[in-house]
Formats: sequence, structure tokens, C-alpha cells
Amino acid sequence: MNEIATSKSAAPAPGYGLRAEASEFPMMLVLSFAYPCNALCPHCPYTNSNIRREYRDAPFMPDSTFRKIADEAGRFGAYLRISGGGEPMLHPQARDLLVYAKQVGCKVGLITNGSLFDDDTIEAFVTAGVDMIEFSVDACKPEDYAVVRKGLSWDTLLDTVRRTVAVRNARRGTSKIIASAVNQNPIDIDAVERFWVDGVGVDYLIKRKFLTWGANTELDDSRSADPAAYLNTDEVPCPFIFERLNIDSRGNVMVCGYDISANTRMGDVNVESIQDIWHGEGFRWYRQRHLEGRGKEISLCSGCPDWKYRSWDHNYWKVVRNAEGNPRRQDRPARRARRVPVPGPELSLRAVRGRGA
Ligand SMILES: C[S@@+](CC[C@H](N)C(=O)[O-])C[C@H]1O[C@@H](n2cnc3c(N)ncnc32)[C@H](O)[C@@H]1O
Ligand code: SF4
Repeated sequence: MNEIATSKSAAPAPGYGLRAEASEFPMMLVLSFAYPCNALCPHCPYTNSNIRREYRDAPFMPDSTFRKIADEAGRFGAYLRISGGGEPMLHPQARDLLVYAKQVGCKVGLITNGSLFDDDTIEAFVTAGVDMIEFSVDACKPEDYAVVRKGLSWDTLLDTVRRTVAVRNARRGTSKIIASAVNQNPIDIDAVERFWVDGVGVDYLIKRKFLTWGANTELDDSRSADPAAYLNTDEVPCPFIFERLNIDSRGNVMVCGYDISANTRMGDVNVESIQDIWHGEGFRWYRQRHLEGRGKEISLCSGCPDWKYRSWDHNYWKVVRNAEGNPRRQDRPARRARRVPVPGPELSLRAVRGRGA
């Protein structure tokens, strides 16, 4: 574990506390940048809840809110993770705002379904050095893709990812190109990894645990292909409140990603500084209880089925490190998809590393 107990806002507890890199400012801001979507993925919490409807008055994060967040985060070199209840690339200013965030010093990670990339967008993101371009692929065959990514085109996705890899390689760009897949039945996630990493040439595949967001959605975990817990919630604090902060399109801060309906109002970034919210009474209260082993006394946390899938070790930072360490990047052209090698021990190891982001 690389975190240390130097929390400004909570009593030290052995081995846990604010991560060193988050002692001033969150390491990552997860932005619900857009709520509308052009797909209906059956595993998606937003396809399985009323949340999108509740955001009809605020479908996209306003330009001014985004720029205020980026300006503050950029001073700390923090990560902006651009995602949301829908497809971020539907945001009318998506391209300009991501490029702006890079210009003011942020690290930028985009999570996208890959359906809306034209050549200019790829060029702009690679040139600006968008750090992580994550394509949610979820499958390696058109027939599976049609089910798990309902409404989207397999051919478009494949073409888009191949073009993005090719442009990044040709420009010798620094962007990492990642694929992700939810580990759900009947998808063979190892075959998905081989197809995209070895066949198409992305830098890494993130294997996502199947989450349900508990009472916030209609989802159940019957399709999960990997329900093994990462941590014991009776003993280990939830890491997310010690490293990251979630913000909806209105600028409301949620205590964590489990509060997907934004019921906890930890602050408003339009009128408060993110740093003040991060060190404010609200987060102090949550962290203190988790460090004292009393997280289950909080009704939100006791009802969270996803806490056990958080990890202090298997996380986004590990994905970033592994993607950066992949020698395939830039040096070799992608191999043709159908020439997929037989899996070996190295592939299995990569699979273990890919979890929990
Ligand atoms: C909600 S989507 C929004 C961004 C974009 N529309 C996309 O699909 O990438 C963000 C990420 O959540 C993942 N996701 C959706 N449902 C999930 C579930 N039940 N468990 C784990 N991850 C899930 C998606 O695969 C995607 O990578
Ligand atoms: S594309 Fe993304 S936001 Fe849209 S339904 Fe699928 S997972 Fe949800």
C-alpha cells in the first residue's frame, strides 16, 4: 500500500488515511460531464434507473463549471476523469473543454463508448496529450457487442479504436489508449483482452467488476462473472473518500461514486473551492468513521454493495503505470485482429493487474 496516514482531516489509523498525493487536493475528480446517451447498455446503472430523467434540466456540465474545475485542478496537476450518466462525447463542447483542461495543467482521462470520434477529434486529443482515452468495448465479437452495447455499431468502434491507435503511434503521442470491459456473463473477458490488446494494439484492458450501485438502480449482480471481494469491509476503510471526488453536471459534489443519484451534497464547486470541500467538515466526518472502523454505522456505506470491490492497490493508478510500461505503445504497429496469439502466463498476469479501476 502506498498511502500514508497523514490525513489533515481525520485521526491517524494504522496503514490508512489520505493518500500522500491527496493530502492537498484530490488525486482524481470524476466528472458527470454528460447525462444523455446514444446507447442502452443493459448493465448500465443509468439504463436501469431514473437518474437520466432527473438530469433533464442539466444534461451537460456548463462550460463555466467545467473551466472553474479545470482551473483549480490544473494547479495541482490532478486527474479529470470525464464520464457521466451518458456519453461524454455528446457534450457540444467536449473537444474544446478537454483540450482546455490539458492547457491549464490537468491530467485528463476520457471514458467513452467510442461512437462519436471523427478524425479531427482524434487529432485534437492526441495533439493535446489527453492522457488516457478509455474505450468501453465490453466484447470482442459483433454478436456479443450488439447485446452488451445495445444501440452502438461494432464496425464504428473497431474503426475508431484502430484509427486512434494509428494516429497516436504515427505522432509518437503520449496518450494512453485503453479498452475496458465489464466482467459479466456470458462474455469471455480473457478473449476480450486478447482481441483488443494483442489484436488491435491498445495499451491495456481494464477488467471492471460488475457493480450494481445497490438501491440506486434496478440492477442485480446475477450476471457478474467475478463476485470475489477485494477487501473486507469490516476491517478496511473505503479508499475512495481518501483519493477522489465525484462532481455532477450541476457542480454538486457527492461523497463517492456509489452516490450515483447525488443525494449527499458535500459542496457546490460553482461557489466553493474544491480544496475547501475536500478538507471540509463533510469529508472529515466520513473519513473519521471509516478510519475508526465505524463505516458501517453510516447508512449510505452500510448499504453499499460496491465497497468490497474498491481497492487500495488494484486501482486507476496501477492502470496508468501499467499502460505507461507497455512496450507495445508506439513501437509496433497493431497486429491484425484475427491473428490473436494463444494466452500465456503473461496475459494472465495482466488480467490480474487490470482490475479495480
Ligand atoms: C456509465 S459509462 C459512461 C461513459 C460512456 N458512455 C461509456 O460507456 O464509456 C462509464 C463506465 O461505466 C462502465 N459501467 C457501466 N455499467 C457498469 C456496471 N454495471 N459495472 C461496472 N461498470 C459499469 C461502462 O462500461 C463505462 O466504462
Ligand atoms: S454507452 Fe455508457 S452511459 Fe451509455 S448506456 Fe452504455 S455504459 Fe451507459
